[in-house]
Amino acid sequence: MAQQHNSWRHYLRQPHAGDAISMQRLVAATEVLDLNSTYTYLLMATDFASTSIVADVRGEIRGLITGYHPPMRPEVLFVWQVAVARTAQGTGLGGTMLDSLVQRVQEERHGHPITVEATVAPSNSVSRALFGAFARRHGVPVTEQRHFTAAQLAADQSHEDEPILRIGPITASPND
Ligand SMILES: CC(C)(COP(=O)(O)OP(=O)(O)OC[C@H]1O[C@@H](n2cnc3c(N)ncnc32)[C@H](O)[C@@H]1OP(=O)(O)O)[C@@H](O)C(=O)NCCC(=O)NCCS
Repeated sequence: MAQQHNSWRHYLRQPHAGDAISMQRLVAATEVLDLNSTYTYLLMATDFASTSIVADVRGEIRGLITGYHPPMRPEVLFVWQVAVARTAQGTGLGGTMLDSLVQRVQEERHGHPITVEATVAPSNSVSRALFGAFARRHGVPVTEQRHFTAAQLAADQSHEDEPILRIGPITASPND
């Protein structure tokens, strides 16, 4: 797995409007993530392109992260959805996308520290592994707090709580 880790970097880029339908399809294919409208992915691929990333393997979108800066907290990168195609899961693509996106955002912020936030359901162990490994690579702590509740997420309580993970502050890339 380790040698595949860095090779993914060649395929990473900012999304653009033409990716929105493929991004929506990739999220649908995970069968785990909440599926949003094409319009939502269009917004992420345009207005929020600088805080999002896709893995484009010869025209096929194999991975994505959508994110944004909360309006009152530009030092935070809120990671909204992370998806990797089934055939690429466990090959380091999720971690490589997260490292690359954080590095890009940090460069755009002229090296200022950023804190990564994401909400993760208690049962989503792969997502927790992804963010835990990211924190270890960067040598920063992870804190967890109650955030969006099951009652807020679905009237019939069909959704789990989504506590928030805060990772950082991150001052440099793991390669520095
Ligand atoms: C979650 C997801 C994005 C992770 O991407 P990935 O490319 O599979 O993850 P990586 O290969 O980069 O691995 C990241 C870490 O998770 C661990 N991991 C990967 N697959 C795992 C699994 N099935 N169970 C437990 N840990 C796992 C890896 O070992 C790695 O940790 P390490 O660096 O300490 O070894 C991907 O599996 C996915 O799309 N899942 C479905 C959608 C989803 O649940 N998204 C939630 C994200 S918020």
